Amino acid sequence: MTLEEKIGQMTLYTSGWDVTGPTLNENYKEELKAGRVGALFNAHTVAYNTDLQKIAVEETRLGIPLLFGYDVIHGHRTIFPIPLAEACTWNMEIIKETARLSAKEAAASGLNWTFNPMVDISRDPRWGRVAEGSGEDPYLGSLIARARVQGYQGDDLSDPFTLMACVKHFAAYGAAQAGRDYHTVDMSDRVLRETYLPPYKAAIDAGVATVMTSFNEVDGVPASGNKYLLTEILRDEWGFDGFVVTDYTSINEMVPHGVVANEKEAAELAVNAGVDMDMQGSVFNDHLQKLVEEGKVEEKRIDEAVRKILEMKWRLGLFEDPYHYLDEAREKEVLFSKELMDHSLAVAKESIVLLKNDPVNSKKLLPVSKEVKSIALIGPLGDNQQDLLGTWHASGDAGKVVTVLQGLKNEFPDAKITYAQGAGFSGDDRKGFAEAVETARKADLVIMALGENYQQSGEAASRSEIGLPGVQQELLQAVHKTGKPVVALVMAGRPLTIEWIDESIPAVVNTWHLGTMAGQAIAEVLSGKYNPSGKLTMTFPRNVGQIPIFYNMKNTGRPFQAENKYTSKYIDVPNEPLYPFGYGLSYTTFTYNGLKLSKTEVTGNDSLEVEVTVENTGEYAGEEVVQLYIQDLVGSVTRPVKELKGFKKISLKPGESQVVKFTINPDDLKFYTRDMSFKAEPGDFMVTVGPNAAEGDTIKFSLK
Ligand code: IFM
Repeated sequence: MTLEEKIGQMTLYTSGWDVTGPTLNENYKEELKAGRVGALFNAHTVAYNTDLQKIAVEETRLGIPLLFGYDVIHGHRTIFPIPLAEACTWNMEIIKETARLSAKEAAASGLNWTFNPMVDISRDPRWGRVAEGSGEDPYLGSLIARARVQGYQGDDLSDPFTLMACVKHFAAYGAAQAGRDYHTVDMSDRVLRETYLPPYKAAIDAGVATVMTSFNEVDGVPASGNKYLLTEILRDEWGFDGFVVTDYTSINEMVPHGVVANEKEAAELAVNAGVDMDMQGSVFNDHLQKLVEEGKVEEKRIDEAVRKILEMKWRLGLFEDPYHYLDEAREKEVLFSKELMDHSLAVAKESIVLLKNDPVNSKKLLPVSKEVKSIALIGPLGDNQQDLLGTWHASGDAGKVVTVLQGLKNEFPDAKITYAQGAGFSGDDRKGFAEAVETARKADLVIMALGENYQQSGEAASRSEIGLPGVQQELLQAVHKTGKPVVALVMAGRPLTIEWIDESIPAVVNTWHLGTMAGQAIAEVLSGKYNPSGKLTMTFPRNVGQIPIFYNMKNTGRPFQAENKYTSKYIDVPNEPLYPFGYGLSYTTFTYNGLKLSKTEVTGNDSLEVEVTVENTGEYAGEEVVQLYIQDLVGSVTRPVKELKGFKKISLKPGESQVVKFTINPDDLKFYTRDMSFKAEPGDFMVTVGPNAAEGDTIKFSLK
């Protein structure tokens, strides 16, 4: 290979998309023919990608096939719940299956690489990209990262029903200051390693093929030029052997970051830090050859990068058959197949979190009685398809989305269902209020479908106020004044501040953005056909002033005391969130009893058994996520008040009980000690087992 051809393999360009379908910039086509492109993204469909692959294979000197990447984040054409919603299932099997099916559909559409999983831990719901992650917890986030990588990649990358995965955004992108996208990240190495890095590491351990850098800086160095992250941690410590791709033009962006004076210097910094492929910035193509000639970049660094990229192409089977992802019959058969649609419904139902279900006149509103005669559905998400798909919905087909209105009609065929939009997602137009109030007055039950549209979360969608956007809360207040019983559906890409709703509305269901089968899933939860089991994986703050807020915080030297002003608290809002991490109700009730340990003292390599009896004490069969948290009471550095270290999702019939067992392993007690060695320290530990991070029974043991 010539140096130019090698650099070409290190270059990724995007295809555009217009009304007629995908279109590749003519310049890129010329670059492609010249062997100056190794991969394309946003190009899909078998017909389109076949034409491009033909150019690479038949018209370039070496005939090296292209990689085709795409942001298959929660489905390709059939859309599943946003990843944050799906995390609330706490069900690794269903999460893995979503990734497997997303890969199957996307691969049938001519793709072989997804830019997912996104595993950025975030403690700040102002950041719009929380929708794409798994929430705030490193332990749960790591398990989900592993499940998604395994689901996308399967056991054999050359299987044409799988995709290469790309763990992103390395690193700590979710810690952007003030929740503002692309903003500075500044944290101690301890917090980086303890809270933010574990899910990336879990993805590497699961064999992820590629890693994407992030837009942010970490400790003053932008991630795309950060040798500490990309070489010392990723390669030397973790042994990653796939390739590193940048985020979109993030090498070029090191110029405005202010660590290099121009794009040539940016290319030098990036490649020497460990970047193997440049996404869309063209800086490698423009400058690497010269940098090698000038001795600023060693050719062996280029060889190393190209070898990793070619190895992935080989593992994908592209050298054996460059067209083996490109099969029109398979495309027709797989897209929107029943298998995909059924899964979309199943995972959507399991993602829904019941936040509140108080009795009205001694009877709970949910599940809605099948006898109900008339339902008024009100709100901008009631008869809406596109927004239910949520952010980054790839090539999701809005026309296939089951609306809430349609779902209710399917589930309550004997009820009269009326709809009024009432309000939009922004501005202060209240013209629809009168019709909405009138519609509510005529019904037995009101269901309000409120929240964000699909562009109000996701990339570049940070918000400084995270209540219901526009005048939706006023609409809800106007409807509430009619005295009709109201169920509020909160449909958003992030936790919203909904304190008024929690105080005033008897039944509140957080549905997130659930994808293609959203309306059906919601209706089946409302009717009780499916008993909700979702548990939050991000804390819901009462107001923006509480952010950042997360369950695994530190105690401080002045922990909260109500009677003592000079303790760590606000004077205008409680410390507690509105809903804690791990929280979610069911139509049934569960009690926890008999928490016990197999021993109260352990030494170095011992493990310890924990058990608790959980009983379904209500009237419905239901599922419960039993959660185990540990607190290390005294450490050489301060430790969080609790940390999730285990959970089990169980299913119980009314009256049934189960002994739930956990094992605490020596590794579960390890942390970065004062000298940054990762180990457990002798001392006392508190175990809490319960239904969420704020409740549970506790028991103590010591490590000798
Ligand atoms: O994969 C994405 C990334 O998450 C944000 N910037 C653009 C990339 C490619 O679309």
